Amino acid sequence: MSETATLEINGQKHEFPLIKGTENEVAIDIKTLRGVTGGVTTIDPGYKNTGSCESAITFLNGEEGVLRYRGYAIEDLAEKASFLEVAYLLIFGELPTKVELDKFHADIKEESVVDDDIKKILDAFPKTAHPMGVLSSLTSALTAFNPTSVNVDSEEDMYRAIVKIMGKFPVLVAWTMRKQKGLPLDYGDDSIGYVENVLKMMFKKPNQEYVENSILINALDKLLILHADHEQNCSTSTVRIVGSSHAGLFASLSAGISALWGPLHGGANQAVLEMLEAIKEDGGDTKKFMAKAKDKQDPFRLMGFGHRVYKNFDPRAKIIKVAADEVLADLGVEDPVLDIAKGLAAEALSDEYFVKRKLYPNVDFYSGIIYRAMGIPVEMFTVMFALGRLPGWISQWKEMRTRKEPIGRPRQVYTGENYREFKTIDNR
Ligand code: ACO
Repeated sequence: MSETATLEINGQKHEFPLIKGTENEVAIDIKTLRGVTGGVTTIDPGYKNTGSCESAITFLNGEEGVLRYRGYAIEDLAEKASFLEVAYLLIFGELPTKVELDKFHADIKEESVVDDDIKKILDAFPKTAHPMGVLSSLTSALTAFNPTSVNVDSEEDMYRAIVKIMGKFPVLVAWTMRKQKGLPLDYGDDSIGYVENVLKMMFKKPNQEYVENSILINALDKLLILHADHEQNCSTSTVRIVGSSHAGLFASLSAGISALWGPLHGGANQAVLEMLEAIKEDGGDTKKFMAKAKDKQDPFRLMGFGHRVYKNFDPRAKIIKVAADEVLADLGVEDPVLDIAKGLAAEALSDEYFVKRKLYPNVDFYSGIIYRAMGIPVEMFTVMFALGRLPGWISQWKEMRTRKEPIGRPRQVYTGENYREFKTIDNR
C-alpha cells in the first residue's frame, strides 16, 4: 500500500502521509492541509469520517461487531472480570494484580465521602428535576469543593483525582435517585464491593435491613462493563474537547454527562422504555409503530435500534440480551412492556426496511429492560450509563492530557452574508 495520499486542488498536487493503526486502520494525516493549500479545509458534519485523535484505549470494528478494551475482548471482560478491574484496565492500561486492585479499591473507598454541603445543593433541586441534570450539576459542583487543579505531570496527582471521582461519583448517582424518591442520603457500606455498594446506596430503606441480591449485582456489573468505554463517541469527545482547554477533570466529566443525556446517545435507554410504554398505552400494536418508524414523513424512530458505528450487530447487545433473559427469568418478572419489547425486536429483525439498513437492537434496547426489571426508575437509566462510562471518560481525558494534545477547535465553512454596511436603527 502506498505511504501517502495525493490531493489535487486547482491543478496543484499535495501529498499527505497515511497513518496506520495497530489494527491496520488507515487515516490520511491532514495536519498540514491548511498550511500547504493556503487555507483549504475539510468538512464532515457529525465527524463521520474524521479521526479526532490517536488512542490506545478502545478498539472497535463496527462492520465485524468487535469491541476491545486495551486489547481484551468485551466478551471475555464481561464474563470474567469485575467492573473495578475493567476500570483499572481502561485507566492504567493493564489488568491489575490482586494487590493493585485491592489498593485501588481501598483508595477509592477512602475518597468516597462527599462534602456534606453538597446536600444543600441537592436540596435546592425540585424532586421533579431530571437526574441527569442533577448529576451533571453535582459533578460540576465537586470542582468548587476541590478547587486545586490536577498537575497532569504528576502521576500521584492524577491518581488522587481519579480515585476521588471514582469514589464520589457513585454517591452522587445514588443521591440523585434517593432525592427523587424522598429517601434519606447516606454513604452506603465500605465493607462490600464497589458495585454491591452502588446498589445498597440506591435501594437501602431506612426502616429495613438491606439484603443483597447476587443476580442484580452480576447484571449491573456486566452492564457497567459493557458501557465502560466506546472510543470517540459524543460524550467522550465532549470530555476530551472540554478537557483540551485545560478545564479540570470534574468540569470535563460534567460536560460529558450533559452530552450523554440526549436521546440519540445515552438517553436512548430511557427513550426505549418510554416508547414501549407509549406502545402499550396505545393498545400494544407493534406493527403500527413499525410502520411509523419506516414512514419518512413521520419523525418517529424505533428507539434502541441502529447505531452510528455498528452496522451489523452491536456485540454488547448480544451479551446483554443473554443477561436480560437471565435476570427476567431469575426474578420471575412478568411485564407486558417487556413482551412488547420482545415482539418489536423479533419483527424488526425480519423486516426488510430494518434488515436492509442493518438496524439491529443496540445495547440500550436491552439495558433499559434490565434496569426496569431491577426496579430502577426510568429517568435514572442514563445516570446508570454515566456510572458505567465514568472510567472510559477518565481514561480518555488522562490520555488526552498526558499526550499534551492541543485545544480542540474545529473549522467551518462560512455560508452567511458577505460584508454589509451597518444601518442605524431608524434606517432599517
Ligand atoms: N428507526 C427507524 N429508522 C432508522 C433508525 C431507527 N431507529 N435508525 C436509523 N434509521 C434509518 C434512517 O432513517 C436512515 O434511513 P434512510 O437511509 O432511508 O434515510 C438510515 O436508517 C440510516 O440512519 P442514519 O440516521 O443515517 O444513521 P446514523 O448512523 O446517523 O444514526 C443513530 C445512528 C443516531 C443511533 C440512529 O440509528 C437512531 O436515531 N437510533 C435510535 C436512537 C438510539 O437508539 N440511539 C442509541 C445509540 S447507542 C448509544 O448511544 C450507546
